[in-house]
Amino acid sequence: MNRLAYMVIALSFTLGIIGGAVYFQKNVGDNKGNTNGNNYSSFESVVKVFKGKYCGCCELYVGYLENKGFKVNVTVVEDIQLEHKKFGVADEMSSCHISEIGGYVVVGHVPVEAIEKLLKERPEIRGIALPGMPSGSPGMPGEKLKPFVIYSLHDSGTDVFMKL
Ligand code: CU
Ligand code: CU
Repeated sequence: MNRLAYMVIALSFTLGIIGGAVYFQKNVGDNKGNTNGNNYSSFESVVKVFKGKYCGCCELYVGYLENKGFKVNVTVVEDIQLEHKKFGVADEMSSCHISEIGGYVVVGHVPVEAIEKLLKERPEIRGIALPGMPSGSPGMPGEKLKPFVIYSLHDSGTDVFMKL
């Protein structure tokens, strides 16, 4: 065998191993952290959370998502209101943090049941919101005082997405 042919074979062998490792990381590795048996795609399981500098409940919400099997990347921002503007979230829908999940924007302390519905049904909306910081919602202390109303965010206005 000549030298060039040998090198080509060795190279494709190496690339095959690297490709396999990357595939394993992406597809098998991601599902490992998924403790509640949900089958999010690797795209859906990675969440970006934007949080204000001085807010602690966002951290607790991040922990809640991680417990539910999501991988969370946190970005600390100077001004969370500005972030709402960037995402086109109206003031009355705003909260202390904004998440990006599976191409949707998820505002506030939204329970995972609503996120699951969103990812399962994939409606043509921009996202969902639980405005404010309701007592007893994921990451918030206190008792749940009334049902959480989760809104769907459209280009023009809002609707009730679900109540929990
Ligand atoms: Cu909060
Ligand atoms: Cu917070």
